Amino acid sequence: MAREYTARFPDWSTDLPLEKALLTAFAELVQTGGGAGPVAGGGSGRGGGTAPVADVGSGPGGLTARLHALGLPVFGVDVSPRMVALAREAYPGLRFHVGSMTALDLPPASLSGLTALYSTIHVPDEALPGVFAEFHRVLLPGAPALLAFQTSSSPDRTDHLHLSERFGHEIDLDYWFRPVNTIAGLLEEAGLRVWARVEREPEGEETRGRGYVVARKEG
Ligand SMILES: C[S@@+](CC[C@H](N)C(=O)[O-])C[C@H]1O[C@@H](n2cnc3c(N)ncnc32)[C@H](O)[C@@H]1O
Repeated sequence: MAREYTARFPDWSTDLPLEKALLTAFAELVQTGGGAGPVAGGGSGRGGGTAPVADVGSGPGGLTARLHALGLPVFGVDVSPRMVALAREAYPGLRFHVGSMTALDLPPASLSGLTALYSTIHVPDEALPGVFAEFHRVLLPGAPALLAFQTSSSPDRTDHLHLSERFGHEIDLDYWFRPVNTIAGLLEEAGLRVWARVEREPEGEETRGRGYVVARKEG
């Protein structure tokens, strides 16, 4: 369903003021450290420039492109080869790789930032601590991660949804919608200090609220 998904959600942030503000805040954190100075080691990345930023679960790549437009040296990673092919087609100037956030093909402390936008919703509970350990491993000390996700209908539980059909295709896809504090707590357990947690109500056709957490690797 990658092509239909891409046509329907090319860049969800275009008309959403809070999302645009959060992406801008994230970019500023990477670039300036939010007043604390740029991320330590951020100047010694590949090619002698700023260390890269990974957009994990980049899907159609529209958000990766927006982060690039904000001045970040970003590349996309997605577990779906079809999504990666479509993102490359749409944004030939950007790099997209096939890979899973459960085992990132990246050296330790190699990123000046990481985004996971509506992608950790597809990771089951038992795998999430391992994914956040991966985020911690690949980030430079002080580097931020921005997570966006649809939230659960109650702050006390995770909602699970299984879809066997979408856009007329037979699929096998699971979603886990979690409270903001669940995500924030697991990031803290992985050694990432929460910098901001934000929640907003559903808008327009959305049926769920949205959660955003920015967390920084200690150090
Ligand atoms: C709902 S889409 C979001 C795409 C994009 N970040 C956006 O916000 O428009 C979720 C994406 O996460 C990817 N994904 C799911 N599990 C993943 C994993 N373990 N590692 C990397 N990507 C994954 C899917 O292939 C899909 O492209």
